[in-house]
Amino acid sequence: MHEFAISSSGPTDTLYKDLASAAEALVADEPDHIANMANISALIWQYLPDLNWAGFYRVIEDELVLGPFQGKTACIRIAIGKGVCGTAAVTGEAQRVADVHAFPGHIACDADSRSELVLPVKHDGKVVAVLDLDSPSPDRFSMDDQTGLETLINSITPALMSKAE
Ligand code: SME
Repeated sequence: MHEFAISSSGPTDTLYKDLASAAEALVADEPDHIANMANISALIWQYLPDLNWAGFYRVIEDELVLGPFQGKTACIRIAIGKGVCGTAAVTGEAQRVADVHAFPGHIACDADSRSELVLPVKHDGKVVAVLDLDSPSPDRFSMDDQTGLETLINSITPALMSKAE
């Protein structure tokens, strides 16, 4: 077990600095990417308020396959290019969606979701996984959330990759 002194209610930049340090500490001595994805999704779930889902999908052949997550049971396989996650995977770009109902092809795994942030996990320019966060509140995710989480993910990418990648 790990204890982190992280305040979820302070300034956003402090929160993301603290989360990134905690994420680096969590993966530092662990080579297994599934174990690391499990702890990173739990870390985000514990400290980021107002989420109803937080977790990873892994790129396996031509699909996204459900990885470690927190929240309700979810769609297991998503075709690359489909939904918000598949769009992040095919474009390699973050998808910050203020209103999921306005996103063509959004896949409603949890009917409570109103907004969504999906970040690609990239190695050598290739998307190897995506981090998906859902919120029951419309427009939950700011650009500060996006950049804070991108920095976090970029700092631990090698720990989120299978040894085959
Ligand atoms: N809403 C996502 C599907 C995954 S779930 O939200 C966990 C999408 O449209 O890709």
